[in-house]
Amino acid sequence: MTTTLTDRTAHFIHLSDRDDSDLRDLLRNARTLKADDFREPVAAGKTIGLIFLNPSLRTRISFETAAVHLGAGTSIIQPGQGVWTFETRTGVVMDGDRTEHLKEAVQVISRYVDIIGVRAFAGMKDLDEDLEDRLLEDIVRYATVPVINMESAREHPCQALADGLTMLERFEGHPEGRKFVLSWAPHPKPLPMAVPNSALEIAARLGMDVTLACPPEMKLPDSVLDQVQLHAVHNGGQLHVEHDQKAAFRDADIIYGKSWAAPLAYQDPSAENELRTTTYGNWTIDTKRMSLTNGAAFMHCLPVRRNVVVTDKVLDGPGAIHVDQAENRLHVQKAVLMKLMGLQ
Ligand code: CP
Repeated sequence: MTTTLTDRTAHFIHLSDRDDSDLRDLLRNARTLKADDFREPVAAGKTIGLIFLNPSLRTRISFETAAVHLGAGTSIIQPGQGVWTFETRTGVVMDGDRTEHLKEAVQVISRYVDIIGVRAFAGMKDLDEDLEDRLLEDIVRYATVPVINMESAREHPCQALADGLTMLERFEGHPEGRKFVLSWAPHPKPLPMAVPNSALEIAARLGMDVTLACPPEMKLPDSVLDQVQLHAVHNGGQLHVEHDQKAAFRDADIIYGKSWAAPLAYQDPSAENELRTTTYGNWTIDTKRMSLTNGAAFMHCLPVRRNVVVTDKVLDGPGAIHVDQAENRLHVQKAVLMKLMGLQ
């Protein structure tokens, strides 16, 4: 096959490409695959190419393991590490140190493998470019096989599915109406907003009462929040934005800790660094804050900076479910792979 797949549901790119029932089907299938410890060679003879433009622990190992459980092979592609370096910009004179353009690389990889997974973080230089997910969309255009987003500038949909599965388990299949709080936290580095965007969306689409707790400067872009609000209302929930962290924690059922850079990082990185590390350095999630909640579970996508984002006591306490969350990456990705291969 050498034509681009124009049907967005042939891929797994953005949560917004799929309707609520489609997402619920994926989650239901993932629950069953997990319960059955499903390991059958239904994808024998298939290969999954995993392109990592950025590092990973969970994403890489969970995809490789899911493929093994389904009988498929994987090829890990890390440009510059045993693979040519990739030029990702379009229309440039390639007289620097980048050897191969992504355009040829993705077309060629598509001729070898059955599915491509891509990790391509935000460039953190141009907010519009990141929000439009231009690099990922270029890759989807060049590919002639289904593409899975393994975290892009705008979204981390596989993480969101794992988050959804974890909350379905926590609330015995019924997270509707539960108070979900995404709390910003300090961090020494300006992290992208893919995980918070996707975490808010999946919570809204599961009908939860969603609160974004963040300093005013860390508010996520309106285009993201408007979408979350629409999903929340459609599913019987609501979106609140709260700049008082303690007020946000009151009566919460889930505290999802995460740091991200303020949009100011795109214009004034030094001023943004001051806000993230110093001005709001007291937003670390601790047991005192957790005691304000309704016995909330603590979630984080990992990797996490201990005693910066969240204290040891919270992470090592009984309410922490971040390792379950990480395990669930395996089960949801198995469901996504099977769906894209027409096996479910
Ligand atoms: N949560 C997540 O995507 O983890 P990795 O960056 O380790 O893959």
